[in-house]
Amino acid sequence: MLKKLLQPCLETKLVDFVFLDSGTGGIPYMLKLKEKYEGASCVYVGDTANFPYGEKSHEEIVKCVLEAGSKIQKKFNPKIIVIACNTMNVNALDILRDAYADIQFVGTVPAIKVAGDISEKRCIGLLATKSTCNHPYNQDLKNHFAADCKMVLRGDPELISFIEHESFTSTEEDRMKACEPAVKYFRENGCDTIILGCTHFLNIKNEIQMVAAPDIKVVDSVDGVVNRALSLYGALR
Ligand code: DGL
Repeated sequence: MLKKLLQPCLETKLVDFVFLDSGTGGIPYMLKLKEKYEGASCVYVGDTANFPYGEKSHEEIVKCVLEAGSKIQKKFNPKIIVIACNTMNVNALDILRDAYADIQFVGTVPAIKVAGDISEKRCIGLLATKSTCNHPYNQDLKNHFAADCKMVLRGDPELISFIEHESFTSTEEDRMKACEPAVKYFRENGCDTIILGCTHFLNIKNEIQMVAAPDIKVVDSVDGVVNRALSLYGALR
């Protein structure tokens, strides 16, 4: 009875933001947005049935993302979908915008510009999925914003899988150990800045930073993405 009474209210409840990722990667983005605007009504969608996106072909990613978009539209009809996943972003953001013209999308762009602004050695590292690393979009960003830098790429499905399946129940020591190979790789290749180009890494940013200190800085896109989502929201009201 109560459910029957509540149902129409639940159905008409307006959702401002849906955060979409393949798993836990978008959680730090949603938490940051709630920190900046407590009143935001947010839904989190992790397409865990299709995790990991980073090992899929472009065609498979587009198919999964369009299916997720359709379910989100039917169930929540949000004003804004934040694509809190770099892999979805490079493979399917434009396609989503064309398919769901009534919804505003905010993408996740790796902080290559920030890295280019602060790198003293002019050597930056992009830590991402294999799919994101293989995509020409990042090279275009680098050529535009950090043209005189060398960019070292590392697709790291093992670390992403650790974060998705183990990091929330692991110790800080386990998490630091898990990110050591990636940090070592960038250090050996002369990088002084690491860009977190997969949203999953935000869940262990502190540990990556601790392992990378004192000679390597770690940068991410959280503030940029959240500020963009909030300014778009402000403009829609
Ligand atoms: N969190 C996703 C990203 O930002 C990728 C994780 C996955 O491989 O599914 O690219």
